[in-house]
Amino acid sequence: MTASSSNQYDVIIIGAGAAGLMCAATAGYRGRKVLVLDHANKPGKKILMSGGGRCNFINLNSTPANFLSDNPRFCISALKRYTPQHFLDLVERHGIEHEEKAAGQLFCKDSAKDIVTMLLTECEWAGAEIRMKTSVKGIAQEAEHYRVKTGSGTLLCESLVIACGGLSIPTMGATGFGYEIARQFGLTVLPTRAGLVPFTLHPELKQQLAPLSGVSCPVDAACNNQHFREPMLVTHRGLSGPSMLQISSFWHPGDPLRINLLPERNIREDLASLRKQKPQSTVAQYLAQHLPKRFAQAFNELYGWQGPLQAYKNIDLEQIADTLGQWTVKPAGTEGYRTAEVTLGGVDTRQLSSKTMAALDHPNLYFIGEVVDVTGHLGGHNFNWAWASGVAAGQSA
Ligand code: FDA
Repeated sequence: MTASSSNQYDVIIIGAGAAGLMCAATAGYRGRKVLVLDHANKPGKKILMSGGGRCNFINLNSTPANFLSDNPRFCISALKRYTPQHFLDLVERHGIEHEEKAAGQLFCKDSAKDIVTMLLTECEWAGAEIRMKTSVKGIAQEAEHYRVKTGSGTLLCESLVIACGGLSIPTMGATGFGYEIARQFGLTVLPTRAGLVPFTLHPELKQQLAPLSGVSCPVDAACNNQHFREPMLVTHRGLSGPSMLQISSFWHPGDPLRINLLPERNIREDLASLRKQKPQSTVAQYLAQHLPKRFAQAFNELYGWQGPLQAYKNIDLEQIADTLGQWTVKPAGTEGYRTAEVTLGGVDTRQLSSKTMAALDHPNLYFIGEVVDVTGHLGGHNFNWAWASGVAAGQSA
């Protein structure tokens, strides 16, 4: 079968998400004839839902230490060449108002829609075509090109970019299609799992914590030699909030979490000095000073700390300090891909060029964004990677 020139493109990108749109604009500005295909009904759906609808579009303080990968140095080159400042310059050229919510984390002041509109405008200016509601049935490689079979006909391209994301939030159109293509062309796909995801609890602890649903407090959560000092939120399903999402990326089934509920305090010393100065005071009163009221009450009931501190021996104070400072929770699991912000694992970067994102054995086949085994911490790092890997491929494809 031959294709007419209207079916021929220099670059076809599968996936109109963050990485795909960035790549499309970059390749389009180089004069390449670009087509983006996506099976969803509108582009950039995850951008729209990101950052609570305001899109935490970059993290200015990102370093390679903010990324998980089996090949940790891979991401450095692309992130160095297209920095968060480059993306911020673009955002400002489009007049998008933004604000820094936490150190280095920039959000839209108004709506994540502004970022999608900006990317679509860039694609339009660069002459890149976007075709939504188009499912890709299969890919075949022929001498000089790739043949992309879609529900509405066959297309040809010189360079094929796989930007179809990971498995998180299937209701938003996530599929494992990118991994299938990688395997088809002989690339290794490292095991995937849900990251930046809330924990679920075993029934007993879930019931004990039920009265705390909706309560948040700052904690330091640790697991597998990583720790994050950020808020924890108790939900009706389990534990969430930034500290839990962050540590979930380092958690494996069966691992305990160690949670310091009073990371700013030296609990042992506090209790000893309180016992000396106010012997009649109680653990409940101490907790009420430093934890949200409902939290303090629930913990006191859970552990039955009754009576005045003067009745407590040093070893009792140590036990209380351990319980609060190293509260140990064994999650039942996580909420999985249904609510995960990202997918860990994916296309093994050892088989990709860190300069162009092309497969080493298939120089015109590119993998960018979340489908690749590069996953950022919470706080804008994942978009940093989507933009940087998109630009790297767009400069070469
Ligand atoms: P992305 O998932 O954006 O795009 C993939 C595209 O491919 C989709 O449009 C999909 O429809 C399409 N596709 C999939 N399979 C296909 C197929 N078979 N055929 C055709 N098309 C197909 N990150 C961050 O830095 N700051 C933040 O504030 C947030 N917030 C956030 C909130 C929530 C709720 C989630 C789920 C995620 C975030 N993230 C985030 C993570 C961020 O959204 C994510 O890292 C990027 O969107 C990844 O960009 P990609 O372009 O790789 O995939």
